[in-house]
Amino acid sequence: MTHLLSGRGRPALQRLAAHPSPGRRGARRRTAPAAGSAIDPLWYKDAVIYQVHVRTFCDSNGDGIGDFRGLTSRLDYVRRLGVNAIWLLPFYESPLKDDGYDIAHYERIDARYGTMDDFRCCLAEAHRLGLQVFTELVINHTSDQHPWFQASRLAPEGSPKRDYYVWSVTPDRYRDARVIFNDVEPSNWTWDPIAKAYYWHRFFSHQPDLNFDNPKVRRAVLKVMRFWLDKGVDGLRLDAVAHLYEREGTSCENLPETHAFLREIRTEMDRRYTHRVLLAEADQAPAVTCEYFGQGDECHMAFQFPLMPRLFLALKREDASPIVSIVRSTGEIPPTAQWALFLRNHDELTISALTDDERRLMFALYAPEPRMRLNLGIRRRLAPLLDNDPARIMLAFSLLLSLPGSPVIYYGDELAMGDNVGLNDRDGVRTPMQWTAGLNAGFSETVGPLTQPVIDDAVFGGAEVNVDAQESDQQSMLWRLRRLIAARAQSQVFGRGTIEFLTVGGGEVLAFLRRYQRETVLVVANLSLQPRTCEVRLPTELAGASLRPLVAGGEAGTLTLDGDVVTLAPSEFRWLRVSQ
Ligand code: BGC
Repeated sequence: MTHLLSGRGRPALQRLAAHPSPGRRGARRRTAPAAGSAIDPLWYKDAVIYQVHVRTFCDSNGDGIGDFRGLTSRLDYVRRLGVNAIWLLPFYESPLKDDGYDIAHYERIDARYGTMDDFRCCLAEAHRLGLQVFTELVINHTSDQHPWFQASRLAPEGSPKRDYYVWSVTPDRYRDARVIFNDVEPSNWTWDPIAKAYYWHRFFSHQPDLNFDNPKVRRAVLKVMRFWLDKGVDGLRLDAVAHLYEREGTSCENLPETHAFLREIRTEMDRRYTHRVLLAEADQAPAVTCEYFGQGDECHMAFQFPLMPRLFLALKREDASPIVSIVRSTGEIPPTAQWALFLRNHDELTISALTDDERRLMFALYAPEPRMRLNLGIRRRLAPLLDNDPARIMLAFSLLLSLPGSPVIYYGDELAMGDNVGLNDRDGVRTPMQWTAGLNAGFSETVGPLTQPVIDDAVFGGAEVNVDAQESDQQSMLWRLRRLIAARAQSQVFGRGTIEFLTVGGGEVLAFLRRYQRETVLVVANLSLQPRTCEVRLPTELAGASLRPLVAGGEAGTLTLDGDVVTLAPSEFRWLRVSQ
């Protein structure tokens, strides 16, 4: 049992399901002191991040909704995966029409998830375990229930309160901006009968966009940032950050004004705090995504949106070239910048930045049924996307963990959890974490309804896929991923090194060198579903080097390096330390 006392002497947390405390194997490599903030200013370069949703991770009080106390009781599980950071989806007061990205109060915890003390307790326990914590800074928009919007719609035109949001008497402004949630929203403008004007929103119509031309809004946003940094969070994910400003005749994305404000945010962060990090969510073309790093003076990290769908293209086409070309085109970033790599997350797998042909292919390959699609994306989890084939899933994880950047693992994917495409919007990939084969998969003790139904099909249901079962099977996905993460932790080349692709003849095998300081690691990955033999020619300066496995990750077979010739089993990958 984990004993955690809040400042006011809160009773000890109860562990929900019988789940043996497994010790601290993965906790040896710590980049952070127990007190909270990291010691190394570049800690985020070595981060392996676990993305978790308080609502669906663990319910401590039997009301069917996950909460902070539940999450806190499970942090040792998270740490034992070997990750050293967590990213929490929004947990602020919200009507939950967009799962918390519709914020009604920036400085309050939604009561369904617990109290501010529960949050503090969770943060302290995460830090004690050596986990840095990312939270969300959702500043592009608020909920229409936010007091700022309620005041704005009543305030006289031209007043500072009115100007908190973007109003117009006509819906004809900013015609060049695309509608992002085009399945449900016909326009970026919605009429408000109280204000007697249209308000601007890039996402749902219940999420009005804040007006960043108003200096009071910018100051209010900086205050929200300080509020959470003062609590001790280590990183902030900047949601929907490409859309902050609007200008006529533009797409209203990635505008210079947005970048100027990001520099202001960064300056404020660096002026007051040490070793805190900004992570940009900007789903854009490669060169445009890179702009979110600025000259090292905007965001420290940005999601590698350009790479993500190309990883899936490469896997299904059994062809390494989409990976090679996109990594080359996003290669040059400032020395302090870092990509956040991901396979899946809480949203649809977005393919909006692909070409029409690539998009058609992705839909055909990964979303054959219309209900698997949403907007310009695919609402499925990792395991179903990869036909629940353990070798393919591990291959995908091996790429996630070895390409340049800091990997982000979406909760449940470490178990190969399934999805439920019958649920609304993106809820099908946000179902409860599966802990046991028991009631509600161990997520909640309630006999009443759950915040989201647990997956219950024959293949992916809680009875089949759960932490308990995988803990006791060393060949489970959970253990295999743990071993892979532990292998990654042996070398800083993965988080900090350069990448150099090797020509191996035939496009089905991906081979690259990662180098950092005096270390070199060779990665070879067979994307084919057939065994492949190919030639791996190391650069001349590495001729005669010995190759020592860092991890044995393939399904079967051994790596044979006969001269330059390598034989790989289907979907096999190898990480090899190159020593001279
Ligand atoms: C979040 C989505 C959300 C949208 C609008 C995105 O960037 O990831 O889940 O629906 O912002 O807030």
